[in-house]
Amino acid sequence: MSAFTPDSELELLFTPGLIPAEVKALLGSDLHMRPLAKTDLSRSHLKVLSVLTSTPDLTEAQYAQAFDRLRSCPDTYFTLVIVARETDQIVGVGSVFLEQKFTRNLGTVGHIEDIAVDKSMQGRKLGLRIINALTGISERMGCYKTILNCSDANVPFYQKCGFEKKENEMARYHSVGSLAATSTTASTIPAVSVPLAVPERLVHTPRL
Ligand SMILES: CC(C)(COP(=O)(O)OP(=O)(O)OC[C@H]1O[C@@H](n2cnc3c(N)ncnc32)[C@H](O)[C@@H]1OP(=O)(O)O)[C@@H](O)C(=O)NCCC(=O)NCCS
Repeated sequence: MSAFTPDSELELLFTPGLIPAEVKALLGSDLHMRPLAKTDLSRSHLKVLSVLTSTPDLTEAQYAQAFDRLRSCPDTYFTLVIVARETDQIVGVGSVFLEQKFTRNLGTVGHIEDIAVDKSMQGRKLGLRIINALTGISERMGCYKTILNCSDANVPFYQKCGFEKKENEMARYHSVGSLAATSTTASTIPAVSVPLAVPERLVHTPRL
């Protein structure tokens, strides 16, 4: 069993202050919600994601490179995790990424992706907390809407999270070696520092 690692000792994907305090307060005292950290491979990030789909067998270096790639796009990728304090292991994860548009008066849309809760922790409202936190971040970042795709089986869950069914999802899959693509381009991207404070224009209370 490893000791809980506080945020101050981690390299985080984004400033933790963006996670709505109201959502964090509703977690049990045994749990902690924070942005993804550069060393979260060792905290079962990919194992938790595997309840959703297959995950690659990454080395720590590959994982860190992927993390740096996300962090090199300022104000774009927000992946958060829920950590069990007792084990320092991740039990829930989810992401929202921001799309800048030309329409809607240069509006921004938040896209929720890759929501997963460890099987042993499902049914404890962690999925709901993750969605509320991501939606809160999307709203604080100025998005006019937050959208996601899901299976028919998960429609009732997202409805309980306040989402409504709208239009259709279309997909066309491509044959690509994404691991190779990542490793050739990531090394050329310069690292950027994580903002230390929530930008002034983003400070307001989200409706959660
Ligand atoms: C879907 C998932 C994220 C839900 O997380 P969870 O922590 O188990 O769900 P919660 O406890 O937060 O559920 C919130 C509410 O939604 C309901 N709910 C959850 N999943 C549901 C489902 N599949 N169908 C109907 N209702 C569901 C819960 O009963 C609860 O309702 P209540 O407020 O009336 O008690 C989780 O089950 C999971 O990781 N599943 C596998 C991966 C996956 O499918 N991810 C989503 C990809 S789109």
